[in-house]
Amino acid sequence: MIAHPRFATLLRMSADAKTSRLVVIANRLPVTRYKEGPETRWKTSPGGLVSALQPFLQASDGSWVGWPGTEGEVPQPFRHDGILLVPVGLTPADLENFYLGFSNSTLWPLYHDAVRWPEFHRHWWWPYVEVNARFARAAADALEPGDIAWVHDYQLQLVPALLRELRPETRIGFFLHIPFPPVELFAQLPWRTQLLEGLLGADLVGFQTRNGALNFARAARRFTSAQGSDRVLEFQGRRIEIDAYPISIDFKRYESLAAREDVQTRAQEIREQISGNRKIILGIDRLDYTKGIDQRLRAFETLLGRYENALEDVVFVQVAVPSRELVPEYAQMRERIESQVGRTNGRYGVPGMTPIQYLYRSLTTEELVAYYVAADVMAVTPLRDGMNLVAKEYVAARVDGGGVLVLSEFAGAARELQQAVLVNPHDVDGIAIAFERALEMPPKEQRRRMADLRRTVSNGDVHLWADSFLGMLGR
Ligand code: F6P
Repeated sequence: MIAHPRFATLLRMSADAKTSRLVVIANRLPVTRYKEGPETRWKTSPGGLVSALQPFLQASDGSWVGWPGTEGEVPQPFRHDGILLVPVGLTPADLENFYLGFSNSTLWPLYHDAVRWPEFHRHWWWPYVEVNARFARAAADALEPGDIAWVHDYQLQLVPALLRELRPETRIGFFLHIPFPPVELFAQLPWRTQLLEGLLGADLVGFQTRNGALNFARAARRFTSAQGSDRVLEFQGRRIEIDAYPISIDFKRYESLAAREDVQTRAQEIREQISGNRKIILGIDRLDYTKGIDQRLRAFETLLGRYENALEDVVFVQVAVPSRELVPEYAQMRERIESQVGRTNGRYGVPGMTPIQYLYRSLTTEELVAYYVAADVMAVTPLRDGMNLVAKEYVAARVDGGGVLVLSEFAGAARELQQAVLVNPHDVDGIAIAFERALEMPPKEQRRRMADLRRTVSNGDVHLWADSFLGMLGR
């Protein structure tokens, strides 16, 4: 019998515990703090990354270094669900300069094709260096000889090199969850060489798509002394491997949630409450300017304007999950979207029938899946996105084999999900046409496309993603 690759890596990793412990370093710990009476408790945060890495961490007695997500006193390292959690504190000034500033007002817009103007401030750069050094020190303390370190995402791009200085022998991996921009854009960054040299401290650097990997290799050859191919670079006498590892979801979890009776009943309720006999187009996003929510809503307004009876046939449900509300761009974005919803509803609504149902809140995973099950069309139209897991979750939740995914060409997921209706998210008329096509797609075609999408997502789930990356890193 051929072992599932996940277990193959686990076996390799646990064969010699001394050489195989995994230490994850990410901006956030995989837990959320809550109060129960006077007691402070922690619960595991929802999300694919946590569920993918948990088995590796538990099997290898591993640890996770990260920010607990709250201000105030930093807790001592503690065990949760078989993993040692090592909190790294952020001060209010760090939150302002490192998190809201350099991470989310410089790097985030720059790496997402500069769809908003990236701000370059020297007084944000030094806190970024300082916080990265703090994470590297905490990681170095958590690491024992032979352990593997896996650093995650744009907030911590200097950690690989800083950690290498402290623990030269450690195998270090880095994975970027967001896009790595074309060199012409990346070149704007005043600290481009430092960031690239930070990443080159890793042995393996992973990206969501092959394009991200190519962009990085090009930038590294242009702005550092690194030499080599698009897959292997030599830098300061070391060899760095570069590749694409498209992240995914826990397919079986979403599939089995969708099949649950209570979730099916809830989906039915949503249909009855929201739509009556109308078809539902659904959008679910963090409220972020990269997600293309305003263009998508304008496309729906276009559709309403084009067909006389559209209001009786279709309703748009937009769930906007609050995010980074202290970044001014996000607050402005919220105002813009809410006034647009108001305008469309005011113009096209009639008593008892509202064209856009807008929810500004987070949903539990069960509720989320019930919305996926209820939706006839899922609209995922980011202007740029590293991957977009909502698209994959929708596919996993369609246990009935129906439903149509309308997907942006500029989401990493579009590389794999070719049977979606692909759209240019900047093209408002094009999105309106795609909605029309999706709403009118014959059931037979829906099922054929969905079967293909489901095969793709279930064959490449998040466990395979973690296994491939760790398998490569642990060689
Ligand atoms: O996609 C990048 C990412 O950092 C995710 O890891 C995270 O879930 C999301 O953006 C929200 O990030 P924040 O930690 O800023 O709330």
